[in-house]
Amino acid sequence: MTDNFGLDPDNIPRHIAIIMDGNGRWAKLRGKLRVVGHKAGADTVKKIIRAADDLGVEILTLYAFSTENWKRSRIEVRALMALLRSFLRRELHELMDKNVKLYCIGQKEKLPPEVREVLDHSIDATSRNTGMILNLALSYGGRSEIIMAVKSLAKKCADGKLAYEEITEEMLSSHLYTAGLCDPDMLIRTGGEYRLSNFLLWQVSYAELYITDILWPDFDRDALIEAVLNFQNRQRRFGRTGDQVVRTG
Ligand code: FPP
Repeated sequence: MTDNFGLDPDNIPRHIAIIMDGNGRWAKLRGKLRVVGHKAGADTVKKIIRAADDLGVEILTLYAFSTENWKRSRIEVRALMALLRSFLRRELHELMDKNVKLYCIGQKEKLPPEVREVLDHSIDATSRNTGMILNLALSYGGRSEIIMAVKSLAKKCADGKLAYEEITEEMLSSHLYTAGLCDPDMLIRTGGEYRLSNFLLWQVSYAELYITDILWPDFDRDALIEAVLNFQNRQRRFGRTGDQVVRTG
């Protein structure tokens, strides 16, 4: 069965994670400052939240700011933080309207207080919404997330609350920022680079990777549909053979 978008509504990825790359190059191509690219990127964020929600995606995780991004110039970091703050303030109304629940993963404590304040307010305001989860990765790094989880398990062992032999994959998952969220089914990267850039290193083990040359500000609803169509034409084997998948589904 297909819906309006030519997609199989029974095979929409539950969780899509996106590395939103290419804002700087988009701006450069137009002879503009990088910040102009980020601004255009924020408009794309808005469009893609709507599109993902319309498609029936359950969780949309966006890599908005990495732990490494702090190394960018002070001007760019400031501009990104200001954009984030204004985005959150402006979009709260629509998030409420669309029943979207806001989540955040990453070192929230490292964000400037004026961003944290708006972020906490929006997370709180949307906490009882039951629709799509919009999960913003902010000051996020996959390796430091894993270290955080390992430290917390190690502490439980040292305190005698956990035996190291009892540690399982599920237990480690439940100590990550993404505890309680299913792993991404699909990871999209715009901007054409073939890298994970320290994003969700543990969680994307079985995600379908989709890399497009489209720069993030140019990514739109049609591009998202194209990506999901590509996902739907793949056979997810989770380590089994193709024949096994066909036999057991
Ligand atoms: C990568 O492009 C993008 C970022 C580091 C920031 C992403 C931020 C946004 C999309 C806008 C604000 C976000 C929200 C949630 C409102 P780049 O600068 O590395 O591009 P380049 O590779 O072309 O230089």
